[in-house]
Amino acid sequence: MTGRLRWGILGLGGISRKFTADLWAAGIEVGAVGSRSQATADAFAADFGVARAHDSYAALVDDPAVDVVYVGTPHPFHAEHALLALRAGKHVLVEKPFALNAAQARAVVAEADARGLVVLEAMWTRFLPHMVRLRELIRGGAIGEVRTLTADHSQRLPSDPGHRLQDPALGGGALLDLGIYPVSFAWDVFGRPETVWARSTPTATGVDAQTTVVLTYRDGQQAVTHSALDVAGRNDAVVLGTEGRIEIDPTWYRPTTLRLVAPDGRVVESVDGVVPGRGMQLQAFELERLVREGRASGDVLPPQESVAIMETLDEVRRQIGLVYPGE
Ligand SMILES: NC(=O)c1ccc[n+]([C@@H]2O[C@H](COP(=O)([O-])OP(=O)(O)OC[C@H]3O[C@@H](n4cnc5c(N)ncnc54)[C@H](OP(=O)(O)O)[C@@H]3O)[C@@H](O)[C@H]2O)c1
Repeated sequence: MTGRLRWGILGLGGISRKFTADLWAAGIEVGAVGSRSQATADAFAADFGVARAHDSYAALVDDPAVDVVYVGTPHPFHAEHALLALRAGKHVLVEKPFALNAAQARAVVAEADARGLVVLEAMWTRFLPHMVRLRELIRGGAIGEVRTLTADHSQRLPSDPGHRLQDPALGGGALLDLGIYPVSFAWDVFGRPETVWARSTPTATGVDAQTTVVLTYRDGQQAVTHSALDVAGRNDAVVLGTEGRIEIDPTWYRPTTLRLVAPDGRVVESVDGVVPGRGMQLQAFELERLVREGRASGDVLPPQESVAIMETLDEVRRQIGLVYPGE
């Protein structure tokens, strides 16, 4: 396929608005939107100048004006809605976490493979310019042998027990919403961990309020990640190597700045990774590139890695005793 894809937005909540704003600013065409309610779809379509507004997800994925579907529903529905879109013959960009668990994630990847369609996890941080430069620096040996990663993702989010983040039925908790960012970052830098250790504190509703994860690797490397939904943290990250370190400024998982620092504290390189908007258009560019080049999987975040990240998160949840309804 050549030319630009026409996007369909499935589930019109908070993040779908932010993503669509970035698509709009980048000149990417949104062909249609789909909600469980016609009124929501109409209002969203009016705000972004989208011509077609559907009152069901089924109608959205069947719309011939849509080539690729962005899934912006809560985590327990990611697999179901990704499968709905794939079975309608559409490529899919699915919000993080890729699914609720690894079994669901595997089913999505198998369906995409069987149909020759692209599925990509919307872990937008991977595609941001400062992360692209971080990978270049590490691969180029700028900090020597990489030994340690620490990253925090803590936000003071709504404590209302009915909010998605507090509700077990909607996949609530810090880990799958926030902790996935540093865990995915550790996967990006070190690959598959050899051991996983986790401790957590629950909310009154029974999801995790804060979770710390320690990952260790074959050659003794360590990653320490923390996430919390009831306190606002600095949200910075650092990668330590034998010849220096990379400091990512708050908020490390958004477009931001970083520094390559020598062991004596001298700043060797400063990187300004700020981009227009929230930077969510970059993951859309990646999906479009994969489709254009006829590839099922890119190097930045192959779907098999999204499955493997879910396996790590499954193990964390096993250790902290976090089971979601229906699992
Ligand atoms: N990449 C990022 O920076 C980022 C940031 C925040 C969230 N996220 C991810 O995006 C997903 C959605 O988060 P959000 O904050 O946008 O949530 P949200 O504001 O609650 O929106 C979720 C939307 O999903 C649809 N939905 C379908 N079934 C639902 C159900 N049973 N209950 C509630 N909503 C349902 C609704 O859209 P309709 O009413 O239109 O059908 C709803 O507006 C989550 O998986 C989260 O991890 C990503």
